[in-house]
Amino acid sequence: MSANIINGKELAQELRLNMKEEVYQLNDQEISPNLTVILVGDNPASKSYVKGKQKASAEVGIKSNVIELPDTTTEEKLLNVIRELNKNDEVHGILVQLPLPAHINEQLVIETITPSKDVDGFHPINIGRMMTGQDTFLPCTPFGILTMLKSKNIPLEGKHAVIIGRSNIVGKPIGQLLLNENATVTYCHSRTIDLKTYTKDADILVVAVGRAHVIDDTYIKDGAIVIDVGINRLEDGSLTGDVDFNKAVEKAAYITPVPRGVGPMTIAMLLHNTIKAAKGLT
Ligand code: GUN
Repeated sequence: MSANIINGKELAQELRLNMKEEVYQLNDQEISPNLTVILVGDNPASKSYVKGKQKASAEVGIKSNVIELPDTTTEEKLLNVIRELNKNDEVHGILVQLPLPAHINEQLVIETITPSKDVDGFHPINIGRMMTGQDTFLPCTPFGILTMLKSKNIPLEGKHAVIIGRSNIVGKPIGQLLLNENATVTYCHSRTIDLKTYTKDADILVVAVGRAHVIDDTYIKDGAIVIDVGINRLEDGSLTGDVDFNKAVEKAAYITPVPRGVGPMTIAMLLHNTIKAAKGLT
């Protein structure tokens, strides 16, 4: 049996249509949602992600403004740019594209963004709110994954969710969001002994490793839900996931493709968070 494919590109498009309406309504109240992105250096992948964010913002009527800084920018200069944006009432969302050059303390940067403008949901205050199940900005990739699962009415309560990867941006928060939905959560990572023991028991398998095709059908239980967070560029320039899609699709009940899977949903959730910030909801 071949899995149902959860098309993130189509779902993101649908969500953007609704968000466009919300932005019109805000414009009627003289509120013009504004997302300001700070890009330090010229990492080609970061540049491409930022372009995607700008394009999607424009599509729903969110004003996006990109502040490009050279990779020689000092930490203090970057913090001062953020402090100014924190004070600027016209700016609703602030996003500092990661990774940052090695001489800049990423955590300090994240903690300098005022929590009410932290549309990435990376500030410890917002992480704490998420952990305690309060309304807040949810980190965009995990939020996108949850939205994809809910769009297919996939039951989460009591299910065994296995997460491979423990990054602050994806692995840790998706586990927390699934726990908030009453799933039983197992975290696996590079030091996990006998990974397959866990993955073969997963009703929901989230793979966020960052290496092409590390998970194939032999790691997957029949009828599992497989979420592939990886975006890996192959030598021929094409994009592929952490999951060997062609093999996994024969075993899973639902699977997300790469591209057109989690990636577009991450951006859609960023727009959602920006609109929420413009409404002053957190
Ligand atoms: N770099 C890769 N993913 C992200 C993200 O979701 N937010 C930010 N700020 N930087 C990233």
